Amino acid sequence: MKITVVGTGYVGLVTGTCLAETGNEVVCVDIDKNKVDRMKNGEVPIYEPHLDILFERNIKAGRLSFTTQLQEGLDHGDIIFLALPTPEDEDGSADLSYVLGVANDIGEKMKSYKVVVDKSTVPVGTAEKVQATIAAKTTVDFDVVSNPEFLREGFAVDDFLKPERIVVGSSSERATALMEKLYKPFVRSGNPIIIMDEKSAELTKYAANSFLATKITFMNEIANYCELVGADVDKVRRGMGTDSRIGKRFLFPGIGYGGSCFPKDVKALHKSGKESGYNFQILDAVIDVNNHQKVKLIPKIMSHFNGDLSGKTIAIWGLAFKPETDDIREAPSLYMIDALLAKGAKIKTFDPEAMDNVKAKYKDQIEFATNMYEATENADALVISTEWSIFRTPNFTKLRDNLKESIIFDGRNLYDVEDMEKEGFTYISIGRKE
Ligand code: UGA
Repeated sequence: MKITVVGTGYVGLVTGTCLAETGNEVVCVDIDKNKVDRMKNGEVPIYEPHLDILFERNIKAGRLSFTTQLQEGLDHGDIIFLALPTPEDEDGSADLSYVLGVANDIGEKMKSYKVVVDKSTVPVGTAEKVQATIAAKTTVDFDVVSNPEFLREGFAVDDFLKPERIVVGSSSERATALMEKLYKPFVRSGNPIIIMDEKSAELTKYAANSFLATKITFMNEIANYCELVGADVDKVRRGMGTDSRIGKRFLFPGIGYGGSCFPKDVKALHKSGKESGYNFQILDAVIDVNNHQKVKLIPKIMSHFNGDLSGKTIAIWGLAFKPETDDIREAPSLYMIDALLAKGAKIKTFDPEAMDNVKAKYKDQIEFATNMYEATENADALVISTEWSIFRTPNFTKLRDNLKESIIFDGRNLYDVEDMEKEGFTYISIGRKE
């Protein structure tokens, strides 16, 4: 099939590349000429495991190409995916100016029937707005479909190629049939394509992300309570998670959820609830608890150093909001860096992928090490903020030698409390014995 993807951010690029992988001819449109030139030369502009192999293969096969011209994209595709940013407005709602701006251009430029697909995470009612915006500019027939994306950063290629479900919000039989044909190769295993109305599809995405953020936040609160009463959240987690109604996943407590999706989507659902006269009290609490959780280790660090961090060097392992990505949006590490700098501490850090992004933000305010051990040399304490695999089994002897004091503040519960005791570390983690 002939597909056009407008917007080559993380979702657009993964969508375009994976659709090309199943034999479709895909044209990706982006207004950023520099980025388009780089992609034409085979350069993948984001870090996402396995994407590079598919990217290169499909460009070589002539199934994946790039342009800055929307007209070229519209002349090519029968299905036009909108994978455009919907950033958070100052008031927490989703800013639709990119989506509606492109909808307007599509209306002006389209010459034949198109299915326009909202892939971006957009508030309930957006498909209707896109429909109206295009319709105001054209007499050509078209349909608008909502097809929310459930990809996780770091696993996006796998998630796209083997989705647990595909949600399609469509009220047109013609558009539904095209979407089913497009996605059939991805659900051969029997996973469902769930067809529903546009509004329900739009809400499904917000509900799923907000539910997961709530699940994590609930566990964070249980962890905080464990610390007060002397229970172990790891044991509670295992005891709960084996109940299949609860499930084992997304029960890991830590220093809060971050990233470009959960924080933004929880706030946006809360905001759109308010606009429709509904107050999501639970989401209010989730936002509040998560804000505190991100800096949860700070009072513990402060109290260990008797309230004075001046002249202390804190090593931080992990900057990305989670492993397998260079994304630092809403990363708990940044909130910790800000708090530690404000308290007068020096910071030495290492992350396998995200250091360039953090460098751009903090310049020489903090020190960047070339490897995880170098970050700990002569540091007064180690703080772990992202659970990258390489941090899971460190050389503890080397760590003890490097650190001035054998102390670790672990925001991701990477090690067993008993093992750390044996290794001779003061080990402060989340929801477990200190
Ligand atoms: C999330 C959803 O999982 C995807 O399904 C969705 O498509 C995506 O948002 C999106 O809306 O685009 P992502 O933000 O890549 O994906 O990351 P997750 O793996 O879901 O992690 C989100 C945050 O929750 C991270 O900060 C992670 O550290 C935290 N988390 C996750 C926990 O603190 N505990 C857990 O048990 C799981």
